Amino acid sequence: MAERLQKILARAGIASRRAAEELIRQGKVSVDGQVVTELGTRADPACQTICCEGKPLSLADEKIYILLNKPVGYVTTVRDPQGRPVVTALVKHLTTLRVFPVGRLDLDTEGALLLTNDGELAQRIQHPSFEVRKSYEAVVAGPLSRETIRQLEQGIELEGRRTWPARIRALARGKKESRLEITIHEGRKRQVRKMFAVVGHPVLRLKRIAYGGLVLGALPTGQARILDPRELARIFG
Ligand code: URA
Repeated sequence: MAERLQKILARAGIASRRAAEELIRQGKVSVDGQVVTELGTRADPACQTICCEGKPLSLADEKIYILLNKPVGYVTTVRDPQGRPVVTALVKHLTTLRVFPVGRLDLDTEGALLLTNDGELAQRIQHPSFEVRKSYEAVVAGPLSRETIRQLEQGIELEGRRTWPARIRALARGKKESRLEITIHEGRKRQVRKMFAVVGHPVLRLKRIAYGGLVLGALPTGQARILDPRELARIFG
């Protein structure tokens, strides 16, 4: 339904109607790529792309799901008291909605991170009963033996609790380091690093490559993209 632009901007949480009018006057709002400065202009957010200062507008009740390839050195939070770079800064250009990360990746871990404003979905993904599997590519110190792989797959004692069965695929085995893929269903803090530390092969590099059936693919480090509903369903697939 077509509505006045200032009303749409206000509903999207950009600014009050008065302030939205000012943004329009200043030429900061566009509809389908055309800058609009006329205050009475109407647009339909359902079928037109409305941008404010270059960012596509989303309506407040809209749910958005973003896949980010998190770089090392970014904190998985919306704000960091220590002033370090945060993951939400890397998706700001994609939406005006306030998104938060689902679960966490360590400061020194890279790879697939989901961000959304959908609290319900975030809870489902992290709830153990859904058993969403997470796959990581890890480089660990030393040559990893078949026996150690078997132990890790069957479950090891970690901080007084046995880990759930994991799947490991050896990708390369060298004297100095080994590369492998590990898939786990739990989400304990620094779990993968701790598991390999327990068996004497500290993790040197860790990258999450998939969330259930949703794979990171060729998304470059530091880049993010909006997911469509079909891709979202793959998380549980
Ligand atoms: N396991 C870890 O050790 N670190 C992560 O960031 C994610 C899983």
